[in-house]
Amino acid sequence: MIRKAAGDLTTAKYVIALTGAGISVESGIPPFRGKDGIWEKIDPMEYAHIDAFMSDPGKVWDVLIRGMKDVVDQALPNDAHKGLARLEELGIIKTIITQNVDGLHQAAGSTDVIEFHGNFAWQSCLDCGRRCPTRTVEMDRLPPRCACGGILRPECVFFGEQIPPRHLSRSQLLAMQCDIMLVIGTSATVQPAATIPIISKQSGARVIEINTEPTPLTHSVSDYLIAGRAGEMMHRIVTEVERKKRQG
Ligand code: APR
Repeated sequence: MIRKAAGDLTTAKYVIALTGAGISVESGIPPFRGKDGIWEKIDPMEYAHIDAFMSDPGKVWDVLIRGMKDVVDQALPNDAHKGLARLEELGIIKTIITQNVDGLHQAAGSTDVIEFHGNFAWQSCLDCGRRCPTRTVEMDRLPPRCACGGILRPECVFFGEQIPPRHLSRSQLLAMQCDIMLVIGTSATVQPAATIPIISKQSGARVIEINTEPTPLTHSVSDYLIAGRAGEMMHRIVTEVERKKRQG
């Protein structure tokens, strides 16, 4: 499977990746669903819906955002993020569409990353709109506030909010144009991100999944699943791609 994926990637003309929380698990960031998933412990409708945030921002900061800040502040890219950046360097991957808000693809060196669900690196003030980096936010009083007194919110897409239209339309276009869609570490259960690989498949692309477990895409949309941890699998795939490139 590793050799097959490396062969497919080496001969492809236009590769796009779609990534999800599973790609950052080896960086110490918990996923949302499945083993150790955040939504197994807290109800997303109570803590990650925009209405929940607007009605009690202090509670959402306390239970969800504070913990995310602690983890994301510490996290470093793993071999899967680095492998995708290396595939870009080799001219194989064009763009990454990520559902993650942790910024680890950019930290690994990927230059064209669509942050489908926004990013956690920045906060903006609900009143004046002023922005500030999340790492500079003081956590002694929650919810944290802007100098103007307004409440800060992360620039992530909450449930109940729209995907930024420019991200949605560009992702859909890329999904139609690519000849390989590499889907890494997503449960493919949240819309509209989950339709991206389906668009690719319907447009004639090959869909390759890397995941520790099968997903709803696995036996219907994906051409094949590389079953294993993203960092380890990507390291092996990239090593094989480099070997093929050296051999010409
Ligand atoms: N390597 C590869 N895959 C892994 C690993 C790993 N080390 N660990 C877990 N996985 C897989 C799981 O099997 C699962 O399929 O990663 C997937 C994680 O799924 P989710 O937690 O549902 O993450 P994601 O698909 O990104 O969620 C989509 O839901 O609430 C949200 O907004 C949040 O962007 C997120 C969206």
